[in-house]
Amino acid sequence: MPDLKGQVAIVTGAARGQGRSHALALAAAGCDVVALDICASVPTVPYPLATEDDLRQTAKEVAALGRDCLALTCDVRSTEALDDAVARTLERFGRIDILVANAGTWALDNLWEITDESWQVVLDINLTGTWRTIRAVVPTMIEQRRGAIVLAASVNAFEAGTRMAHYVAAKHGVLGLMRNAALELGRFNIRCNAVCPGAIDTKMNDWQGAYDLMAGGPGGTPEDRRVNAHHWSNLAGRGLLDPASVSRSVLFLASDDARDITGVALPVDGGHAVLPGLNGDPVGDW
Ligand SMILES: NC(=O)c1ccc[n+]([C@@H]2O[C@H](COP(=O)([O-])OP(=O)(O)OC[C@H]3O[C@@H](n4cnc5c(N)ncnc54)[C@H](O)[C@@H]3O)[C@@H](O)[C@H]2O)c1
Repeated sequence: MPDLKGQVAIVTGAARGQGRSHALALAAAGCDVVALDICASVPTVPYPLATEDDLRQTAKEVAALGRDCLALTCDVRSTEALDDAVARTLERFGRIDILVANAGTWALDNLWEITDESWQVVLDINLTGTWRTIRAVVPTMIEQRRGAIVLAASVNAFEAGTRMAHYVAAKHGVLGLMRNAALELGRFNIRCNAVCPGAIDTKMNDWQGAYDLMAGGPGGTPEDRRVNAHHWSNLAGRGLLDPASVSRSVLFLASDDARDITGVALPVDGGHAVLPGLNGDPVGDW
């Protein structure tokens, strides 16, 4: 594990799932953590988002690792909330070494049936929210002449996904944003990379629409989700991957072990990217 003692990391979407796992991995490596999350559901998102209790739990688990945690409710769609979070971070810790821009939402709709509102929400949170988060944090990193940024992209930043046009467009955009951040911030000794998770075991894909997707049609079950996830991987025994697996890559990219690495998109997908194509929607009768 890299030694990040004395460093300060901001993690968005930190109340649960991969964000909580990243927060705990950073804390275990010695970071104090600023954990941000919306802590509320959003109408067009077809599954519940995290709660204030979830965020409190993250803070409790960071504290149990002996690190300080500033936990704040913050919607990455709000410039005001992000600026306030940065101000409170500087007040408490005086610096920001690492940003993990992880907050994201998913939705499943046929491309021709996506509503204006749903398209806007997916793009606002996953892509524009990521840019807003970077914009809020980067002036501090420029002043410090130091910083490491890790963005949460997806395998859907490389490939299409059935009924995910909004999400796929947003995640492809995240890689463009990552590359431009790497280009423009390099001269300030700030690195920017992305992790591209495959199918990870979190609440994002633990709801009826996701079961149907994994089953290949309506009537899917949690068991379909569990079993069919194995078709997404090329490595023996891998189904839905543990969030901690992604956290190890986040930790690497955030640390000095990756001091000469910037502008890179790192898949953490059990080899999903090398699988031959598969038509996940052969009937198309949804
Ligand atoms: N689970 C997967 O299979 C998978 C695969 C590839 C990429 N990802 C990406 O990983 C990241 C983490 O997702 P997860 O799997 O942990 O899912 P999750 O739903 O458990 O966690 C996402 C977190 O982001 C928070 N969030 C949502 N909108 C927000 C907003 N506007 N402002 C602040 N916080 C907000 C949620 O409350 C939640 O705590 C996302 O960017 C997601 O797109 C997930």
